Amino acid sequence: MIKKNKDRLTVYIETYGCQMNVNDSEIVAAIINNSGMEISDVPDNADVIFLNTCSVRDNAERKIHERLMHLRQYKKKNHGLVVGVLGCMAERLRAKLLEDEPIVNLAVGPDEYRRLPELIDSVTSEKDAKGIAVKLSRVELYDDIPPLRKEGNAAWLSIMRGCNNFCSYCVVPYTRGRERSRPFTSLLDEAIKLSDEGYKEITLLGQNVNSYDFESKGFPDLLEEIAKSIPSVRIRFTTSHPKDFSQSLAEVMAKHDNICKHIHLPIQSGSNRILDLMKRGYSFEGYLSKIEIIRDMLPGCSLTTDIIAGFPSEELEDHELTLKALEIIKYDGAYTFRYSPRENTRAYKLEDSIPEDEKIRRLQEIINSQLAISKKLNDEEIGRIHSVLIEGDSKRDDSKMMGRTDTNKVAIFPKTKREVSHGDTVRMKVTHSTPATLFGEIV
Ligand code: SAH
Ligand code: SF4
Ligand code: F3S
Repeated sequence: MIKKNKDRLTVYIETYGCQMNVNDSEIVAAIINNSGMEISDVPDNADVIFLNTCSVRDNAERKIHERLMHLRQYKKKNHGLVVGVLGCMAERLRAKLLEDEPIVNLAVGPDEYRRLPELIDSVTSEKDAKGIAVKLSRVELYDDIPPLRKEGNAAWLSIMRGCNNFCSYCVVPYTRGRERSRPFTSLLDEAIKLSDEGYKEITLLGQNVNSYDFESKGFPDLLEEIAKSIPSVRIRFTTSHPKDFSQSLAEVMAKHDNICKHIHLPIQSGSNRILDLMKRGYSFEGYLSKIEIIRDMLPGCSLTTDIIAGFPSEELEDHELTLKALEIIKYDGAYTFRYSPRENTRAYKLEDSIPEDEKIRRLQEIINSQLAISKKLNDEEIGRIHSVLIEGDSKRDDSKMMGRTDTNKVAIFPKTKREVSHGDTVRMKVTHSTPATLFGEIV
């Protein structure tokens, strides 16, 4: 029993993985809070430590195994400590996680968070007790649980859960289950509430936001309704799947100033043969037609992407096609990954044929090429004026402040006599830049 010294158990949550996990941790925090336990910002002295985990690549899971190793010290100090693994890794590894990691007491998948209080209760009453809950649901949306958000100006709002796409390399459909969308009016209400509470930016989240579908309302309808209802709040969204990116979405973006002009549109590869093996559901030409819609209807819109290097059977000519795609499309930025085989996915049956050092070489080529493109695009920004939502002091230099442009670029400018603080929007003229950052001054 660890309850005896305190009347309330304290729970510390550490979050890994994508933004949906960040929002899920806020839902978990709300569930914990509502059940009479307390959320702690630090692991020391916590009665329960949760790691909300990611399985998307092997190194994401390795990081968790390392963290669990480190947590042994905490357990030595407090034998009653409950260690729980939440999220995608719990869902993927299930009972095996409890077998392989004796320190773990609880493994709880993304659709079972409502049961956390009961599960905590069951393992705190007995030393070394174990609990597991990993059922996926077709309906769970946590729609009735207002997330316990950290203070700040920006809020995450998950509009859907799960993924039906089954890209051949990806674990997400297995760890998150089938797609389901939150009710339209409940999302609208939450967005208005967030605006009333003073949030200046809301990011709509989903593994594939454009497949939002609730009683014949699609994502463009939802985005438009939210943008109209809270005109002074910036609206962002991620991630868009290229196959579902539509003209009507671009139209809605063009119509509303408060919808940020930035689109994250993962291409993964520039080779049609590889895209086909990845089961992405589009060709390079099909993808380009979406880029043309964006360039046409949303001039100045920034574009970012995800790329996987070294997918099974990727030849040098496929890799060259990816490099060529970067040159043609000219993304503002790219998240780049080495292919990581994931058990039970369809691509796992293909031989992981590209040696690790060759994957690294190709990845580095992609990174270098993208850096040069980002540098050039950011150099062209010099002299332009952007509206910047201030997030706080610059981490490197507290005589400067940091924020983001509408196009989602990091912006740094010196503090001025005129008092401005986080949450304010200022106009910044760009004076110089790096591939990742715009520097300027308030005008
Ligand atoms: N739903 C989003 C992405 C989710 S995962 C989408 O479809 O765009 C984020 C990124 O991780 C993916 O876009 C992909 O580039 C990368 N990724 C996913 N599985 C991977 C794997 N097995 N190996 C390497 N990268 C992977
Ligand atoms: Fe994974 Fe594809 Fe779904 Fe994205 S769309 S989460 S890459 S299966
Ligand atoms: Fe990772 Fe799960 Fe998100 S696998 S990327 S935390 S949906």
